[in-house]
Amino acid sequence: MNTKTLALIAVAPMEGVMDATTRDLITRQGGWDFCVTEFLRVTQGRQPLKVFQRICPELRQNAQTLIGTPVHLQLLGSDPAALAINAQIGVAAGAKVIDLNYGCPAKTVNRHLGGASMLRYPDKLYAATHAVAQALKESNTPLTAKMRLGYDDTELTLDNARALNAAGITQLVVHARTKAQGYKPPAHWEWIAKIAEVVDVPVFANGDIWTVADYQRCVEVSGVKDVMLGRSSMTNPWLAKQIKQHLTGKEVEQVDFKRVLGFLLQWLVLDAQFYEEIVRVMRAKQWLVMFRLRWGEEAQQVFDVCKRLTNERDLMSYLEDYLLFSDS
Ligand SMILES: Cc1cc2nc3c(=O)[nH]c(=O)nc-3n(C[C@H](O)[C@H](O)[C@H](O)COP(=O)(O)O)c2cc1C
Repeated sequence: MNTKTLALIAVAPMEGVMDATTRDLITRQGGWDFCVTEFLRVTQGRQPLKVFQRICPELRQNAQTLIGTPVHLQLLGSDPAALAINAQIGVAAGAKVIDLNYGCPAKTVNRHLGGASMLRYPDKLYAATHAVAQALKESNTPLTAKMRLGYDDTELTLDNARALNAAGITQLVVHARTKAQGYKPPAHWEWIAKIAEVVDVPVFANGDIWTVADYQRCVEVSGVKDVMLGRSSMTNPWLAKQIKQHLTGKEVEQVDFKRVLGFLLQWLVLDAQFYEEIVRVMRAKQWLVMFRLRWGEEAQQVFDVCKRLTNERDLMSYLEDYLLFSDS
């Protein structure tokens, strides 16, 4: 059976976390249909090619991770001309799909009318998106977008979705929270159903899908079967595969916290090629912070020890000892 017809499952863009190494390792676990890069911020003028290659090293390998999962290039900005020219440069550099970020809540970005702040102005949202869609016409490159429900509230949610649709996007991911709601649970999946009714492009649900059971509930509430997974792609890199096993009636393989810690150890080894030790240790702690969201007390205990460790040797030997000797 072709699982792609059942559901598409994407790895979400996550700035400062979801880099090429992480995308590579996560997609190798199977079940993932595409990834989106961390955002490349566009203010005015052209970005140098090396910036595109830093954000998306996969541009050098047909815009795919090592196992062949497509990687879409995400741009963030508000200036139609600047977005359009940089989208074209992205394509010239090897991007196969361009994605626009209308969800980022960061103050520095929002102050300059980028990310979620664009959701206050459906007309500007349309202008920016339309300019990119037009710029990509000649190369026939698909343009996708990712939005939150709104900035302060949901008053303009449907207007924004309609504006993106009219501007020429081919796919829409909805992080089902406003900017004001930050990352606070719950995600309001019921809004995804309303958005799907007013657009004629495929809609992906995003926000707070941590388990197969969450996926199932999200489908019931949103009516949408395609999803993008952010933090849960790191707290359980096998979740896409588990969802597809569930959808095809196969036995869902079990994942426990120790397996996820083993994955983190693999990541530390792989990332050694790209980052200095201090960065790897800091980022491993970021992973552990995220693990607490899914694995609760067990992850908290590990984090409490690791947060005090300052070098990688100590960190890795603690994690290895935990894997070998802890009873949980
Ligand atoms: C650390 C972090 C960085 C993020 N960076 C981006 C980004 O660069 N572009 C974007 O569109 N969304 C970004 N997001 C939002 C996620 O893609 C996703 O929409 C959000 O985490 C909700 O999904 P989740 O509950 O599955 O994590 C980021 C989220 C986090 C936690």
